[in-house]
Amino acid sequence: MQIFLDTANLEQIREGVEWGIVDGVTTNPTLISKEEGSFQEIIKEICNVVSGPVSVECVCTQSQDIIKEARSHAKLAPNVVVKIPICREGLKATSVLSKENIKVNTTLVFSVNQALLAAKAGTRFVSPFIGRLDDRGHEGLDIADQIVTVLENYEMETEVIVASIRHPLHVTEAALIGADIATVPFSVLEKMLRHPLTDIGIDKFLKDWDKVKGR
Ligand code: E4P
Repeated sequence: MQIFLDTANLEQIREGVEWGIVDGVTTNPTLISKEEGSFQEIIKEICNVVSGPVSVECVCTQSQDIIKEARSHAKLAPNVVVKIPICREGLKATSVLSKENIKVNTTLVFSVNQALLAAKAGTRFVSPFIGRLDDRGHEGLDIADQIVTVLENYEMETEVIVASIRHPLHVTEAALIGADIATVPFSVLEKMLRHPLTDIGIDKFLKDWDKVKGR
């Protein structure tokens, strides 16, 4: 499974890249708003640091405007993927952009049917937001699982990005259902790495080695 970082924070992205585990990045207006600097500077710098897909969200609401905005985003760097919310105008834009080989990540997906429509319109990625479904008392992972199954049933090329991940178990579950990608906040990435028994084990080995190294 590929791991994307769900952040626009360059420090976190650089750190993840040094770990050798970052296959791509997803941003959104909320994540960008937390960072200093202009939108374009932030995106260009992320695209310099990460060679994989970097999702950049469109905020226009009419298809013709979304198309113009997406073309402009796509010029920022070769690895830009334009993020478009699932909706009527978004589908129209996706259909046009996919024929121009501009990759689309269909975002704010909360149902299998939304994912199916986006895939048929030619989107490259669909992003079910499992955490936000969980917040509403639904089983977000079940929706992601069904989307994976449906896309596999028809051998569609669209890849599933499990998004709105809240904790490490979400990542494990995304891998178990065979999702192509999980997009993970840096805080969750750190939690995936750590285990108290590992820390205890390292500490003991270092202390025992102190007894040996003077011999
Ligand atoms: C995905 O592309 C989104 O940026 C993200 O996963 C949204 O997650 P949230 O529900 O934590 O805002």
